[in-house]
Amino acid sequence: MILLTGATGRVGKAAATELLSKGVPFRAFVRDADKFEHAGDGVEVAVGDFTDLDSVARALQGVTRALIVMGNHPEQAELEQGFATVAAEAGVAHLVKVSSMEAAPDATAALPKNHFETEQTIAELDLDWTFLRPNYYMQNMLMYAASVSRASSFALPLGRANTAMIDARDVGRVAALVLSEGGHEQQIYRLTGPELLNFHDVAEQMSTVLQRSIEYIEQTPDAFREVLGQFIQSPWQLDAVCELFGEIAAGSLDEQTTAVADLLDTPPTPFAAFVAEFAGAFSAPAP
Ligand SMILES: NC(=O)c1ccc[n+]([C@@H]2O[C@H](COP(=O)([O-])OP(=O)(O)OC[C@H]3O[C@@H](n4cnc5c(N)ncnc54)[C@H](OP(=O)(O)O)[C@@H]3O)[C@@H](O)[C@H]2O)c1
Repeated sequence: MILLTGATGRVGKAAATELLSKGVPFRAFVRDADKFEHAGDGVEVAVGDFTDLDSVARALQGVTRALIVMGNHPEQAELEQGFATVAAEAGVAHLVKVSSMEAAPDATAALPKNHFETEQTIAELDLDWTFLRPNYYMQNMLMYAASVSRASSFALPLGRANTAMIDARDVGRVAALVLSEGGHEQQIYRLTGPELLNFHDVAEQMSTVLQRSIEYIEQTPDAFREVLGQFIQSPWQLDAVCELFGEIAAGSLDEQTTAVADLLDTPPTPFAAFVAEFAGAFSAPAP
């Protein structure tokens, strides 16, 4: 049996959809069963929380492979490592962890540092593992949908830095593949979209798809922090995101790989296709 954590989130939900389409049985580990879209599709659901290791142990009964993915949180590393340790004790043979492209021994920003430390903990357990290290998610642009819709612009503190943005659902598809077939043991996959784009390129592609001019405004880190502070309550998370964006501005995500196409035999989603799919969210309000 496969266990998916994060099954109500972007990556985990996509992994669930992919496993369902392949007819591969799995169990979803969720905090709130009502939030799990595939609850009625014959999927096993285990209600629990990373903070409750008894609920983790119950969910892991009979599980051979598990996906670890959760949203960023001050205790994320501790919680994911707790899950992994319980999984090893329960006899899980293979853990697939969603990490980040900046996870590295010399990572200094809190989020990639936590991911790398968790990878290290998992690698020391007596089981197989696969680490998925994605670039920037295209879904992050949906946070700017209201601004694009209202003002035909979005602001980020990323200067002219490149990313090779990836659709989070492609990460989920890779996770489903790795969980449902052998051959990915002790592998690290650096997952990206199909092209390197700076955010002026991003605005240009949005302009073409949406058929109106969209502007990228290069924001200062201080202005970014001030705006973000209106949405993020946790000082830890505010610091962590600002620190991470400083690294992205310095080029930490300027890397494109062929891993998604190599693994899935289909190319990763292009950004223009993503914008076309979500054009409604970016569209200008009716006059
Ligand atoms: N955003 C990016 O550009 C980017 C790039 C590379 C890597 N990443 C990594 O991707 C991960 C996030 O993936 P995502 O976007 O798929 O996440 P997401 O959409 O934010 O969803 C987070 C999932 O984690 C679950 N969760 C959170 N806390 C939990 C807990 N205590 N117990 C059980 N479940 C819990 C949530 O459940 P609820 O629905 O109940 O809240 C939800 O299903 C992060 O580790 C991040 O560092 C992100």
